[in-house]
Amino acid sequence: MTLLLKTLTICAVLGAADLAAAAELSLAANTTGKNVNFMREQLDKFEKQTGHKVNLVTMPPSSSEQFSQYRLWLAAGNKDVDVYQTDVIWAPQLADQFIDLTEAAKDVVGDHFPSIIQSQTVNGKLVALPIFTDAPALYYRKDLLEKYGKTPPKTWDELAATAKEIQDKEREAGHADIWGYVFQANAYEGLTCNALEWIKSSGGGQIVETDGSISVNNEKAAAAIERAKGWIGTIAPEGVLAYQEEESRGVWQTGKAVFMRNWPYAYALGNGGDSAVKGKFEVMPLPTASAGEQPSSTLGGWNLAVSKYSEDQQAAIELVKFLSSKEVQKQRALQLSQLPTIASLYDDPEVAAAQPFMPNWKPIFQSAVPRPSAVAKVKYNEVSSKFWSAVHNTLSGDGTAAENLELLEVDLTELKGDSW
Ligand code: GLC
Repeated sequence: MTLLLKTLTICAVLGAADLAAAAELSLAANTTGKNVNFMREQLDKFEKQTGHKVNLVTMPPSSSEQFSQYRLWLAAGNKDVDVYQTDVIWAPQLADQFIDLTEAAKDVVGDHFPSIIQSQTVNGKLVALPIFTDAPALYYRKDLLEKYGKTPPKTWDELAATAKEIQDKEREAGHADIWGYVFQANAYEGLTCNALEWIKSSGGGQIVETDGSISVNNEKAAAAIERAKGWIGTIAPEGVLAYQEEESRGVWQTGKAVFMRNWPYAYALGNGGDSAVKGKFEVMPLPTASAGEQPSSTLGGWNLAVSKYSEDQQAAIELVKFLSSKEVQKQRALQLSQLPTIASLYDDPEVAAAQPFMPNWKPIFQSAVPRPSAVAKVKYNEVSSKFWSAVHNTLSGDGTAAENLELLEVDLTELKGDSW
Protein backbone atom coordinates (compact mmCIF):
# COMPACT_ATOMS: atom_id res chain seq x y z
CA MET A 1 0.00 0.00 0.00
CA THR A 2 1.39 3.41 -0.83
CA LEU A 3 1.90 5.84 1.99
CA LEU A 4 -0.86 8.03 0.59
CA LEU A 5 -3.38 5.19 0.61
CA LYS A 6 -2.26 4.11 4.04
CA THR A 7 -2.55 7.67 5.31
CA LEU A 8 -6.03 7.91 3.85
CA THR A 9 -7.01 4.67 5.56
CA ILE A 10 -5.60 5.91 8.85
CA CYS A 11 -7.45 9.16 8.24
CA ALA A 12 -10.69 7.24 7.82
CA VAL A 13 -10.06 5.32 11.03
CA LEU A 14 -8.78 8.17 13.18
CA GLY A 15 -10.65 11.12 11.77
CA ALA A 16 -9.24 14.10 9.94
CA ALA A 17 -7.90 15.81 13.04
CA ASP A 18 -5.23 13.13 13.46
CA LEU A 19 -4.15 13.15 9.84
CA ALA A 20 -2.09 16.26 10.29
CA ALA A 21 -0.22 14.56 13.11
CA ALA A 22 0.59 11.34 11.20
CA ALA A 23 4.30 11.39 10.45
CA GLU A 24 6.68 9.24 8.45
CA LEU A 25 9.79 8.61 10.50
CA SER A 26 13.07 6.81 9.93
CA LEU A 27 14.95 4.98 12.64
CA ALA A 28 18.59 3.93 12.20
CA ALA A 29 19.27 0.69 14.08
CA ASN A 30 22.01 -1.92 13.96
CA THR A 31 21.73 -5.47 12.71
CA THR A 32 23.34 -7.25 15.66
CA GLY A 33 21.59 -10.56 16.44
CA LYS A 34 17.84 -10.19 15.98
CA ASN A 35 17.70 -6.47 16.77
CA VAL A 36 16.16 -5.49 13.45
CA ASN A 37 13.41 -8.16 13.54
CA PHE A 38 12.57 -7.15 17.07
CA MET A 39 12.51 -3.45 16.21
CA ARG A 40 10.23 -4.11 13.23
CA GLU A 41 7.75 -6.01 15.41
CA GLN A 42 7.67 -3.16 17.91
CA LEU A 43 7.40 -0.55 15.16
CA ASP A 44 4.35 -2.34 13.75
CA LYS A 45 2.69 -1.96 17.16
CA PHE A 46 3.70 1.69 17.35
CA GLU A 47 2.30 2.35 13.88
CA LYS A 48 -1.03 0.78 14.86
CA GLN A 49 -1.20 2.77 18.08
CA THR A 50 -0.26 6.16 16.65
CA GLY A 51 -0.94 6.21 12.91
CA HIS A 52 2.70 7.19 12.27
CA LYS A 53 4.80 5.19 9.87
CA VAL A 54 8.37 4.19 10.70
CA ASN A 55 11.04 3.03 8.25
CA LEU A 56 14.04 1.12 9.51
CA VAL A 57 17.44 2.16 8.23
CA THR A 58 19.68 -0.81 8.94
CA MET A 59 23.22 -0.19 10.12
CA PRO A 60 26.23 -2.52 10.34
CA PRO A 61 26.64 -4.39 13.64
CA SER A 62 30.01 -2.70 14.29
CA SER A 63 29.66 0.19 16.71
CA SER A 64 32.66 1.91 15.09
CA GLU A 65 31.25 1.72 11.57
CA GLN A 66 27.90 3.01 12.77
CA PHE A 67 29.57 5.91 14.50
CA SER A 68 31.46 6.93 11.35
CA GLN A 69 28.29 6.79 9.27
CA TYR A 70 26.25 8.75 11.82
CA ARG A 71 28.93 11.38 12.05
CA LEU A 72 28.86 11.92 8.30
CA TRP A 73 25.08 12.13 8.18
CA LEU A 74 24.83 14.47 11.12
CA ALA A 75 27.65 16.71 9.92
CA ALA A 76 25.71 17.08 6.65
CA GLY A 77 22.49 17.97 8.52
CA ASN A 78 20.75 14.86 7.17
CA LYS A 79 16.96 15.12 7.47
CA ASP A 80 16.27 11.54 6.38
CA VAL A 81 16.97 9.95 9.75
CA ASP A 82 14.82 11.11 12.67
CA VAL A 83 15.88 8.70 15.40
CA TYR A 84 19.32 7.17 15.94
CA GLN A 85 20.12 4.08 17.99
CA THR A 86 23.24 5.19 19.85
CA ASP A 87 26.01 3.48 21.79
CA VAL A 88 26.41 4.48 25.45
CA ILE A 89 29.82 6.08 24.72
CA TRP A 90 28.61 8.54 22.09
CA ALA A 91 26.55 11.01 24.12
CA PRO A 92 29.35 13.58 24.68
CA GLN A 93 30.50 13.36 21.06
CA LEU A 94 27.13 13.72 19.37
CA ALA A 95 25.33 15.84 21.97
CA ASP A 96 25.19 18.93 19.74
CA GLN A 97 23.40 17.06 16.97
CA PHE A 98 20.55 15.70 19.08
CA ILE A 99 17.64 17.46 20.76
CA ASP A 100 17.33 17.80 24.53
CA LEU A 101 14.86 15.19 25.82
CA THR A 102 14.77 16.52 29.40
CA GLU A 103 11.34 18.09 29.19
CA ALA A 104 9.71 15.40 27.03
CA ALA A 105 11.03 12.58 29.22
CA LYS A 106 10.46 14.09 32.65
CA ASP A 107 7.63 11.64 33.36
CA VAL A 108 9.78 8.57 32.55
CA VAL A 109 13.42 9.30 33.42
CA GLY A 110 12.80 8.25 37.01
CA ASP A 111 12.00 4.70 35.83
CA HIS A 112 15.58 4.14 34.64
CA PHE A 113 18.76 3.55 36.65
CA PRO A 114 20.07 7.05 37.46
CA SER A 115 23.63 6.18 36.40
CA ILE A 116 22.43 5.31 32.90
CA ILE A 117 20.46 8.54 32.57
CA GLN A 118 23.58 10.30 33.84
CA SER A 119 25.67 8.68 31.10
CA GLN A 120 23.33 10.16 28.49
CA THR A 121 23.28 13.62 30.04
CA VAL A 122 25.83 16.14 28.72
CA ASN A 123 26.03 19.55 30.40
CA GLY A 124 22.48 19.17 31.65
CA LYS A 125 21.12 18.07 28.27
CA LEU A 126 19.47 14.64 28.06
CA VAL A 127 20.81 13.43 24.74
CA ALA A 128 19.17 9.98 24.52
CA LEU A 129 16.89 7.56 26.35
CA PRO A 130 18.17 4.04 27.07
CA ILE A 131 16.64 0.93 25.50
CA PHE A 132 19.00 -1.60 27.14
CA THR A 133 22.24 -1.78 29.08
CA ASP A 134 25.09 -4.23 28.53
CA ALA A 135 27.74 -6.04 30.55
CA PRO A 136 29.56 -9.02 29.04
CA ALA A 137 29.79 -12.56 30.32
CA LEU A 138 32.11 -15.51 30.06
CA TYR A 139 30.04 -18.14 28.27
CA TYR A 140 31.12 -21.71 28.98
CA ARG A 141 30.12 -25.16 27.81
CA LYS A 142 28.74 -26.75 30.97
CA ASP A 143 28.57 -30.16 29.28
CA LEU A 144 32.25 -30.12 28.27
CA LEU A 145 33.48 -28.82 31.63
CA GLU A 146 31.54 -31.60 33.35
CA LYS A 147 32.81 -34.22 30.90
CA TYR A 148 36.42 -33.35 31.81
CA GLY A 149 35.81 -32.70 35.52
CA LYS A 150 36.62 -28.98 35.34
CA THR A 151 35.20 -26.11 37.36
CA PRO A 152 34.39 -22.75 35.73
CA PRO A 153 37.62 -20.68 35.69
CA LYS A 154 38.08 -17.67 37.95
CA THR A 155 41.35 -16.33 36.53
CA TRP A 156 42.55 -15.73 32.96
CA ASP A 157 45.27 -18.36 33.41
CA GLU A 158 42.76 -20.94 34.61
CA LEU A 159 40.59 -20.07 31.63
CA ALA A 160 43.51 -20.60 29.25
CA ALA A 161 44.54 -23.89 30.88
CA THR A 162 41.01 -25.32 30.91
CA ALA A 163 40.37 -24.12 27.36
CA LYS A 164 43.57 -25.77 26.14
CA GLU A 165 42.98 -29.06 27.90
CA ILE A 166 39.39 -29.45 26.70
CA GLN A 167 40.25 -28.25 23.19
CA ASP A 168 43.09 -30.78 22.87
CA LYS A 169 41.09 -33.69 24.27
CA GLU A 170 38.06 -32.92 22.14
CA ARG A 171 40.26 -32.74 19.05
CA GLU A 172 41.79 -36.12 19.91
CA ALA A 173 38.25 -37.44 20.23
CA GLY A 174 37.58 -36.35 16.62
CA HIS A 175 36.13 -32.86 17.13
CA ALA A 176 38.82 -31.42 14.84
CA ASP A 177 37.58 -27.87 14.49
CA ILE A 178 36.94 -26.99 18.14
CA TRP A 179 38.72 -24.03 19.78
CA GLY A 180 39.17 -23.20 23.45
CA TYR A 181 38.20 -19.53 23.52
CA VAL A 182 36.67 -16.96 21.18
CA PHE A 183 36.43 -13.23 21.78
CA GLN A 184 36.61 -9.98 19.78
CA ALA A 185 40.02 -8.83 18.55
CA ASN A 186 39.15 -7.04 15.33
CA ALA A 187 40.46 -3.46 15.24
CA TYR A 188 37.27 -1.67 16.39
CA GLU A 189 35.40 -0.53 19.49
CA GLY A 190 34.79 -4.10 20.65
CA LEU A 191 38.54 -4.64 21.06
CA THR A 192 38.68 -1.56 23.27
CA CYS A 193 36.07 -3.28 25.47
CA ASN A 194 37.92 -6.64 25.57
CA ALA A 195 41.33 -5.11 26.24
CA LEU A 196 39.98 -2.75 28.90
CA GLU A 197 38.70 -5.86 30.69
CA TRP A 198 42.08 -7.65 30.48
CA ILE A 199 43.85 -4.56 31.79
CA LYS A 200 41.42 -3.44 34.48
CA SER A 201 41.10 -6.96 35.89
CA SER A 202 44.92 -7.06 36.15
CA GLY A 203 45.12 -3.87 38.21
CA GLY A 204 46.35 -1.89 35.16
CA GLY A 205 43.81 0.94 35.29
CA GLN A 206 41.27 2.06 32.72
CA ILE A 207 43.30 3.69 29.90
CA VAL A 208 42.47 7.26 30.91
CA GLU A 209 41.43 7.67 34.56
CA THR A 210 38.41 9.69 35.69
CA ASP A 211 40.71 12.58 36.65
CA GLY A 212 41.93 12.75 33.04
CA SER A 213 45.36 11.22 33.60
CA ILE A 214 46.66 8.83 30.94
CA SER A 215 47.48 5.62 32.81
CA VAL A 216 47.65 3.00 30.07
CA ASN A 217 51.44 2.78 29.76
CA ASN A 218 52.12 0.53 32.74
CA GLU A 219 53.58 -2.93 33.33
CA LYS A 220 50.34 -4.55 34.41
CA ALA A 221 48.56 -3.35 31.29
CA ALA A 222 51.43 -4.58 29.09
CA ALA A 223 51.41 -7.99 30.80
CA ALA A 224 47.64 -8.27 30.34
CA ILE A 225 47.90 -7.63 26.59
CA GLU A 226 50.85 -10.04 26.24
CA ARG A 227 48.78 -12.67 28.04
CA ALA A 228 46.00 -12.24 25.49
CA LYS A 229 48.51 -12.44 22.65
CA GLY A 230 49.50 -15.85 23.96
CA TRP A 231 45.94 -17.11 23.37
CA ILE A 232 46.02 -16.46 19.64
CA GLY A 233 46.81 -19.57 17.66
CA THR A 234 46.88 -21.70 20.83
CA ILE A 235 43.36 -21.55 22.30
CA ALA A 236 41.84 -19.02 19.87
CA PRO A 237 41.94 -19.20 16.08
CA GLU A 238 44.16 -16.67 14.24
CA GLY A 239 40.90 -15.47 12.71
CA VAL A 240 39.93 -13.96 16.07
CA LEU A 241 41.98 -10.94 14.96
CA ALA A 242 39.12 -10.22 12.56
CA TYR A 243 36.25 -11.24 14.84
CA GLN A 244 33.58 -8.92 16.14
CA GLU A 245 30.70 -10.09 18.35
CA GLU A 246 28.77 -11.84 15.58
CA GLU A 247 31.75 -13.85 14.27
CA SER A 248 32.55 -15.10 17.78
CA ARG A 249 28.92 -16.04 18.28
CA GLY A 250 28.92 -17.89 14.96
CA VAL A 251 31.78 -20.14 16.10
CA TRP A 252 30.30 -20.61 19.57
CA GLN A 253 26.76 -21.30 18.46
CA THR A 254 27.83 -24.02 16.06
CA GLY A 255 29.51 -25.79 18.97
CA LYS A 256 33.09 -24.95 17.95
CA ALA A 257 34.28 -23.19 21.12
CA VAL A 258 34.54 -24.16 24.78
CA PHE A 259 34.45 -20.54 26.05
CA MET A 260 33.32 -17.23 24.61
CA ARG A 261 33.38 -13.63 25.78
CA ASN A 262 30.24 -11.90 24.62
CA TRP A 263 27.36 -9.64 25.63
CA PRO A 264 24.03 -10.94 26.96
CA TYR A 265 22.30 -10.91 23.54
CA ALA A 266 24.15 -14.15 22.74
CA TYR A 267 22.33 -15.94 25.57
CA ALA A 268 18.86 -16.05 23.97
CA LEU A 269 20.35 -16.78 20.56
CA GLY A 270 22.48 -19.60 22.01
CA ASN A 271 19.35 -21.15 23.46
CA GLY A 272 17.40 -20.76 20.20
CA GLY A 273 15.96 -23.68 18.26
CA ASP A 274 18.70 -23.50 15.61
CA SER A 275 21.62 -23.44 18.08
CA ALA A 276 23.95 -26.41 18.52
CA VAL A 277 24.67 -25.32 22.10
CA LYS A 278 21.07 -24.95 23.26
CA GLY A 279 20.80 -25.95 26.92
CA LYS A 280 24.53 -26.85 27.05
CA PHE A 281 26.02 -23.62 28.35
CA GLU A 282 26.06 -21.23 31.28
CA VAL A 283 27.35 -17.72 31.82
CA MET A 284 29.53 -16.28 34.58
CA PRO A 285 31.41 -13.03 35.23
CA LEU A 286 34.66 -12.58 33.29
CA PRO A 287 37.89 -13.85 34.91
CA THR A 288 40.48 -11.70 36.69
CA ALA A 289 44.30 -11.84 36.62
CA SER A 290 44.57 -13.21 40.15
CA ALA A 291 42.05 -14.40 42.69
CA GLY A 292 42.15 -11.07 44.56
CA GLU A 293 41.25 -8.74 41.67
CA GLN A 294 37.76 -7.40 40.99
CA PRO A 295 36.11 -8.87 37.89
CA SER A 296 35.91 -6.15 35.27
CA SER A 297 33.20 -5.99 32.68
CA THR A 298 33.05 -3.06 30.29
CA LEU A 299 29.83 -1.11 30.55
CA GLY A 300 27.95 -1.10 27.27
CA GLY A 301 24.42 -0.29 26.25
CA TRP A 302 22.24 1.37 23.63
CA ASN A 303 19.93 4.36 23.54
CA LEU A 304 17.73 6.35 21.20
CA ALA A 305 18.30 9.97 20.28
CA VAL A 306 16.28 12.41 18.17
CA SER A 307 18.14 14.28 15.45
CA LYS A 308 17.95 18.03 15.64
CA TYR A 309 17.51 17.97 11.85
CA SER A 310 14.35 15.85 12.09
CA GLU A 311 11.28 17.54 10.69
CA ASP A 312 8.97 15.44 12.89
CA GLN A 313 10.51 15.85 16.30
CA GLN A 314 7.31 15.39 18.27
CA ALA A 315 6.52 12.07 16.60
CA ALA A 316 10.19 11.07 16.94
CA ILE A 317 10.00 11.73 20.69
CA GLU A 318 6.87 9.56 20.93
CA LEU A 319 8.77 6.78 19.18
CA VAL A 320 11.76 7.06 21.53
CA LYS A 321 9.49 6.96 24.56
CA PHE A 322 7.67 3.94 23.19
CA LEU A 323 10.83 1.91 22.42
CA SER A 324 12.44 2.74 25.77
CA SER A 325 9.26 1.97 27.75
CA LYS A 326 8.97 -0.75 30.34
CA GLU A 327 6.70 -2.87 28.10
CA VAL A 328 9.12 -2.87 25.17
CA GLN A 329 12.15 -3.37 27.45
CA LYS A 330 10.41 -6.37 28.98
CA GLN A 331 9.83 -7.85 25.53
CA ARG A 332 13.46 -7.13 24.67
CA ALA A 333 14.56 -8.97 27.82
CA LEU A 334 12.24 -11.91 27.12
CA GLN A 335 13.06 -12.28 23.44
CA LEU A 336 16.61 -10.93 23.05
CA SER A 337 18.00 -11.40 26.60
CA GLN A 338 19.17 -7.78 26.67
CA LEU A 339 19.45 -6.11 30.05
CA PRO A 340 16.70 -3.64 30.99
CA THR A 341 17.53 -0.16 32.24
CA ILE A 342 14.45 -0.26 34.48
CA ALA A 343 15.15 -1.75 37.90
CA SER A 344 11.78 -3.46 38.51
CA LEU A 345 12.23 -5.70 35.45
CA TYR A 346 15.06 -7.53 37.26
CA ASP A 347 12.46 -8.78 39.76
CA ASP A 348 9.93 -9.73 37.09
CA PRO A 349 9.20 -13.48 37.37
CA GLU A 350 8.59 -13.88 33.63
CA VAL A 351 11.94 -12.28 32.82
CA ALA A 352 13.72 -14.45 35.39
CA ALA A 353 12.05 -17.59 34.03
CA ALA A 354 12.92 -16.80 30.40
CA GLN A 355 16.49 -15.57 31.13
CA PRO A 356 17.64 -17.15 34.41
CA PHE A 357 21.00 -15.34 34.37
CA MET A 358 19.39 -11.92 34.29
CA PRO A 359 18.59 -11.22 37.96
CA ASN A 360 22.27 -12.05 38.72
CA TRP A 361 23.45 -9.60 36.07
CA LYS A 362 22.10 -6.51 37.82
CA PRO A 363 25.09 -6.17 40.21
CA ILE A 364 27.44 -7.00 37.34
CA PHE A 365 26.35 -4.17 35.10
CA GLN A 366 26.12 -1.87 38.11
CA SER A 367 29.80 -2.42 38.89
CA ALA A 368 30.87 -2.46 35.23
CA VAL A 369 33.76 -0.26 34.14
CA PRO A 370 32.88 2.70 31.93
CA ARG A 371 35.14 3.48 29.01
CA PRO A 372 36.77 6.93 29.29
CA SER A 373 34.13 8.60 27.12
CA ALA A 374 32.87 11.04 29.76
CA VAL A 375 36.41 12.25 30.49
CA ALA A 376 37.74 12.33 26.90
CA LYS A 377 34.51 13.93 25.67
CA VAL A 378 34.65 14.77 21.95
CA LYS A 379 38.06 13.09 21.70
CA TYR A 380 36.83 9.70 22.91
CA ASN A 381 36.64 8.04 19.50
CA GLU A 382 40.23 8.99 18.80
CA VAL A 383 41.35 7.73 22.20
CA SER A 384 39.60 4.46 21.57
CA SER A 385 40.87 3.99 18.04
CA LYS A 386 44.45 4.71 19.09
CA PHE A 387 44.06 2.24 21.96
CA TRP A 388 42.52 -0.55 19.91
CA SER A 389 45.20 -0.06 17.22
CA ALA A 390 47.99 -0.40 19.80
CA VAL A 391 46.38 -3.57 21.12
CA HIS A 392 45.64 -4.98 17.68
CA ASN A 393 49.22 -4.38 16.56
CA THR A 394 50.51 -6.21 19.61
CA LEU A 395 48.15 -9.15 19.14
CA SER A 396 49.20 -9.35 15.47
CA GLY A 397 52.90 -9.51 16.38
CA ASP A 398 53.68 -5.94 15.31
CA GLY A 399 55.68 -4.70 18.30
CA THR A 400 55.55 -5.71 21.95
CA ALA A 401 52.87 -4.48 24.31
CA ALA A 402 55.43 -2.37 26.19
CA GLU A 403 56.60 -0.69 22.97
CA ASN A 404 53.10 -0.08 21.67
CA LEU A 405 51.83 1.30 24.97
CA GLU A 406 54.75 3.67 25.17
CA LEU A 407 53.91 5.03 21.69
CA LEU A 408 50.24 5.17 22.66
CA GLU A 409 51.04 7.27 25.69
CA VAL A 410 52.88 9.78 23.51
CA ASP A 411 49.95 9.92 21.07
CA LEU A 412 47.32 10.30 23.77
CA THR A 413 49.32 13.01 25.51
CA GLU A 414 49.45 14.95 22.27
CA LEU A 415 45.75 14.39 21.66
CA LYS A 416 44.91 15.58 25.15
CA GLY A 417 46.91 18.77 24.89
CA ASP A 418 46.28 21.04 27.87
CA SER A 419 43.10 19.27 28.82
CA TRP A 420 40.56 16.85 27.44
C1 GLC B 1 28.09 -3.79 22.59
C2 GLC B 1 27.98 -2.73 23.68
C3 GLC B 1 28.50 -1.42 23.18
C4 GLC B 1 29.92 -1.59 22.67
C5 GLC B 1 29.96 -2.65 21.58
C6 GLC B 1 31.39 -2.92 21.14
O1 GLC B 1 27.19 -3.52 21.56
O2 GLC B 1 26.65 -2.58 24.11
O3 GLC B 1 28.45 -0.45 24.20
O4 GLC B 1 30.47 -0.39 22.22
O5 GLC B 1 29.40 -3.84 22.05
O6 GLC B 1 31.46 -3.83 20.12
